Amino acid sequence: MVITMVKLSEEMKSAFSKVKIFPIATASREGMPNVVPIGFCQLVDDEVIWIADNFMAKSLANLKENPNVAIFVWGPETGGCFQIKGETEIISSGEKFEKMKATVHAAKPGLPAKNLIEVRISEVFQCAPGPGAGKKLL
Ligand SMILES: Cc1cc2nc3c(=O)[nH]c(=O)nc-3n(C[C@H](O)[C@H](O)[C@H](O)COP(=O)(O)O)c2cc1C
Repeated sequence: MVITMVKLSEEMKSAFSKVKIFPIATASREGMPNVVPIGFCQLVDDEVIWIADNFMAKSLANLKENPNVAIFVWGPETGGCFQIKGETEIISSGEKFEKMKATVHAAKPGLPAKNLIEVRISEVFQCAPGPGAGKKLL
């Protein structure tokens, strides 16, 4: 499927950079939800996120049958909260994959670095409480 990608604002990118662990939600084809904490989640540019699959089991199985993910970006220092929706591609060889693997191994040699999950950001929503909660931002 061809999706329309959106670009995170400077404020959103700054919030993203302050988060250490991201909640990554996936769903099976039947819609059974699954959410996991993920440390290796980096913003590659304004509209693409890379997630390193080291230990994914249900998450990976879900992504193979349903490429959609949701991530919320919040931490004590983010000064707000927003929610990202995106479509993923599972990449297990090639230049991008090797780059992800090098980053993972630089942080902790021996981690499996099984797949690169590339997320193309398609929508962003306000997630902070208040009158704007849930509104589509991008
Ligand atoms: C703090 C923390 C950070 C984690 N970071 C990663 C990560 O970067 N990559 C990864 O594949 N799993 C990571 N995990 C493991 C996943 O959260 C999870 O255990 C794994 O995806 C298996 O769950 P699943 O079967 O629901 O996919 C992390 C777990 C914790 C507690």
